[in-house]
Amino acid sequence: MNQSVLDSQLHRMEQALRASPDQMLEFKAKRDLLARILQLKEEKNVLILGHNYMEPLVFYLSGENERGDSLALSRRAAETDKPIILFDGVRFMAETAKILSPDKKVLIPDPEAGCSLAEPFTAADVLEYRRRYPGCPVVTYINSYADVKAETDYCCTSSNGPNVVRHAARAFGTNRVIFFPDSLMGANLQKELEPDGIEIIYPGKEDDKFGRCEVHEKFTVEILRGIRRQYNLIKGSEETAVLAHWECLPEVLAEADYYGSTSQMAQYIAKHPKLKRVFLATECEMAANLALEYPQVEFVKTCNMFCQHMRRITLEKILYSLEHEVYEISVDPAIAARARQAIDRMLEVPRG
Ligand code: 13P
Ligand code: SF4
Repeated sequence: MNQSVLDSQLHRMEQALRASPDQMLEFKAKRDLLARILQLKEEKNVLILGHNYMEPLVFYLSGENERGDSLALSRRAAETDKPIILFDGVRFMAETAKILSPDKKVLIPDPEAGCSLAEPFTAADVLEYRRRYPGCPVVTYINSYADVKAETDYCCTSSNGPNVVRHAARAFGTNRVIFFPDSLMGANLQKELEPDGIEIIYPGKEDDKFGRCEVHEKFTVEILRGIRRQYNLIKGSEETAVLAHWECLPEVLAEADYYGSTSQMAQYIAKHPKLKRVFLATECEMAANLALEYPQVEFVKTCNMFCQHMRRITLEKILYSLEHEVYEISVDPAIAARARQAIDRMLEVPRG
């Protein structure tokens, strides 16, 4: 790679990190490692996608249109012409990229990066729900593996859940929709879609097997209220905000000023320029990344709610993965083709 291109990429990263002395210190210490990764990225023509929960040095390795939430990164994976995609995120995300780009080599720096929502459920669970609720469409959250998606009518993510569920209900001519596998998001969708007369059937509602995000379930309404008091985050104020992810408990969403996907929370901050102080009820690195983008906003960092799976993705593992072209994601082509239909149906739903 030509030296001036490499220098300009390192400069782009340095600019992104400059608001934080801690990040700058780490950037300087790891400059050679970053340079080697960027060099390999260029030489091998790799698209590096970075989820919003990556630590800042990993997050900003990806360019502006290559960072984001699950939906944005799926779209980006589907449209790339690069032969290799390296996914800085968890396995279900890399698997979704492979389903959407089957002829590309899709790598994940640590194949053990799982997700507490995706892990417990298999295709058999979906088939059992179909048996119990015949004629009801199945909407599956993107935090799931290919075999579950393959038995699904529509996928959705946290940025389009209500819209996809409404669409599925209309398309099937029913007011009952099966939602997999997140029980808290299922309960939240139920509340959100009550005015539409839609009933959501989700794991844990009528049986014992449920799915929860091990990070978001830890936020309680008492924690949020305590933080509001301590940091003077007044509900409804133009200058402060408590934002929560859809995967939190229903009462936590009710306590927040706004709830949405990871990118929708970021957009909320962009659209509210008067904000001075914000607390995010979500994975902690998200606040670290936003603090770099919005140095005028104070991000309350009381939490130590890290996703152990997202934390597995480090610069050292990224370098190893690029050098040796490991760990490659593979999906049975017949399952991938059926899973893809569910993802494509989601991507075709008109935005609400
Ligand atoms: P987003 O789709 O909002 O990026 O969320 C993915 C996720 O895993 C949240 O915990
Ligand atoms: Fe899964 Fe929760 Fe981690 Fe997101 S934060 S990847 S939902 S365990």
